[in-house]
Amino acid sequence: MTDRQLDIIVGARPNFMKIAPIIRAIETQREAGGTLGYRLVHTGQHYDPLMSDAFFEQLGIPQPDVNLGVGSGTHAEQTAAIMTRYENLLLEQRAALCLVVGDVTSTMACAITAQKLGVPVAHVEAGIRSGDWEMPEEINRLVTDAITNYFFTTSEYANAHLRAAGVGDERIFFVGNTMIDTLLANYDRIFPAAFFTDLALGDDQYVAVTLHRPTNVDERARLSELIHTICDNARGMPVIFPVHPRTARNLNDIGNLPSNLHRVEPQPYLQFIHLICHAKAVITDSGGITEEATVLGVPCMTLRDTTERPETVEQGTNILLGTDASAIGPAFDRLIAGKWHTGRVPPLWDGKAGERIVEHLLKLLI
Ligand code: UD1
Repeated sequence: MTDRQLDIIVGARPNFMKIAPIIRAIETQREAGGTLGYRLVHTGQHYDPLMSDAFFEQLGIPQPDVNLGVGSGTHAEQTAAIMTRYENLLLEQRAALCLVVGDVTSTMACAITAQKLGVPVAHVEAGIRSGDWEMPEEINRLVTDAITNYFFTTSEYANAHLRAAGVGDERIFFVGNTMIDTLLANYDRIFPAAFFTDLALGDDQYVAVTLHRPTNVDERARLSELIHTICDNARGMPVIFPVHPRTARNLNDIGNLPSNLHRVEPQPYLQFIHLICHAKAVITDSGGITEEATVLGVPCMTLRDTTERPETVEQGTNILLGTDASAIGPAFDRLIAGKWHTGRVPPLWDGKAGERIVEHLLKLLI
């Protein structure tokens, strides 16, 4: 490897949208004669074709150079397997820098491994904080940022958290949001899934739901209560639910699902964005979807008590409903009455974050 060759780490579904624009910007720089190169390392945390391969195909991400193939397991098992395998890879062939994105287990595990071998770490989407240590992602963020050298951030909130933790401004790069780069770059390519036509879904005539957080889906009674409350309040509209593998396990055991609930497979990116874009509202416990809904201007109800993305509430279309199902009814009243707040797009969410990251990397890796 040359001294300008970095490792780009991906592991789970939300990572794929975040690295696509960075890879594109690196390739553009190479076409212009630049010497920054990369090795794409997939940890294998997400391995189902619908959770992984479909995103590579649709977003034009090259096949990973290495797949660590860790698969499912407890968090400790996944962390240990990723660290062991990534360590071997780095020992075989060192990288000039390890670039991790987001907050999944793969992000943290590779950051620790690299830093312990003296490979500097860059973290994309650094500095965001929910303050909720019950979320595994918050632990991943805290640990990753504690050992990151270069912080690429999506918001002033993130910058403030990093400064408060003692990170100097010379290591913080406010670049914008690579997930939104992907959204804007692919907006013209979105298209409806087959079920969209089969169910004759119309603009603003259905609700889209995604749930996968352990606190919402791991207990069958809670998942059942959430689904019933959403469907009962949807005013007869179809409720479209692309089901994450984690959620599927319990959903399969709930009898008597509401008749307006339509469960579908996890959706590939272009069909998923189409689904969100045309929905009356989206109900979710994901963080990334609150950002996408904000940029698309779609009302978003988040079934969590906290968010690491406060800009989606303060500037965007997101409202934190909390984890009590009783908040869902009043939120629907407001939606149907046409009283949902309209939002604006947060600063630097302009489709150019990947380019900015690569500009900085070129200066950092001299
Ligand atoms: C992970 C991320 C979360 C992200 C989410 C998006 C962590 C801590 N969490 O959560 O931040 O929002 O991905 O999907 O990293 N499974 C499959 N097929 C797959 C992947 C997973 O069946 O391709 C199953 C696993 O066996 C496991 C469950 O789904 O039973 C959960 O997967 P896991 O990757 O551990 O965490 P997520 O809940 O997906």
